Amino acid sequence: MKKLSVSHLLGIKYLNTEDFNLIFETASQFKEVINRPIKKVPSLRDITIANLFFENSTRTKLSFELAEKRLSADIINFSASQSSVSKGETLSDTVKNILAMKVDMIILRHPNPGAAHFLSKNLNSCIINAGDGTHEHPTQALLDVYSLIEKFGNLKGKRIAIVGDIKHSRVALSNIYALKMMGAEVKLCGPKSLIPKYIECLGVTSSSDFNQVLNWCDAANILRIQNERMGTVYFPSNREYSQNFGLNLDRLKQLKKKIIILHPGPINRGVEISSDVADSNQSIILDQVQNGVAIRMAIIYLLGSKLNIKNNV
Ligand code: CP
Repeated sequence: MKKLSVSHLLGIKYLNTEDFNLIFETASQFKEVINRPIKKVPSLRDITIANLFFENSTRTKLSFELAEKRLSADIINFSASQSSVSKGETLSDTVKNILAMKVDMIILRHPNPGAAHFLSKNLNSCIINAGDGTHEHPTQALLDVYSLIEKFGNLKGKRIAIVGDIKHSRVALSNIYALKMMGAEVKLCGPKSLIPKYIECLGVTSSSDFNQVLNWCDAANILRIQNERMGTVYFPSNREYSQNFGLNLDRLKQLKKKIIILHPGPINRGVEISSDVADSNQSIILDQVQNGVAIRMAIIYLLGSKLNIKNNV
């Protein structure tokens, strides 16, 4: 059986092309499984997984939980607001206690960049990063790239725009690494205040001319403004942002070709994207969500197959 080059999924930057191919091949097999009347396989029935969410989530949390159930793993869920974190317990102590209950794998969403790395260095467990602050969101990038490959066949030379609040986005950084690995050209677009200056070191270009970027690209990944991570004001108002960077039907109609629209969610309708675009046949937003379950099944399965479960019996 082919194996991943890593024992944790901490970020896209630690994966290589062979890992991508293996994840996508495995996800395609699981996509077929979840479209059958009986959507479950017994692959991971000896494994116990803890979903630790220290930050709100709809898609990622439910998608991981469903992926684990489809693989027949045992699962426990942890939400920071209902836990002893509010009594002062550290992340490390919280996770040590959970591992003492014979848990094999940790799915971690945390507001602090590097939280998943920290756990992987300090504890003996398999860690999957489900989003760490402004740093990385590797499973989101994998499902985005997988969804684009479904549309385009392959991404070599394809022009992909990432639009919006790049500065506070973990989706943007993981997508840049993943798209570059697949041979795509990447252009970032948004207000200058929301595009970090160093980012072009990653081999991408940037522009604040949204109409020009839309004319350039084959697909646009639209990001929301991440108000919860902003300590200050980066643009005058949502209305002005929407006028300059909101994707609406008028903008799409002016283009010479039909581009593909992605959005990682949650959507702020009427701010970064209008309802008629989000719900249009150019949008693959719900394909992304569906593919997310297959991608997460693939990651959990491939990392789970590297565990020595006997250690925990
Ligand atoms: N895309 C994404 O991470 O969404 P959630 O915050 O709802 O998990």
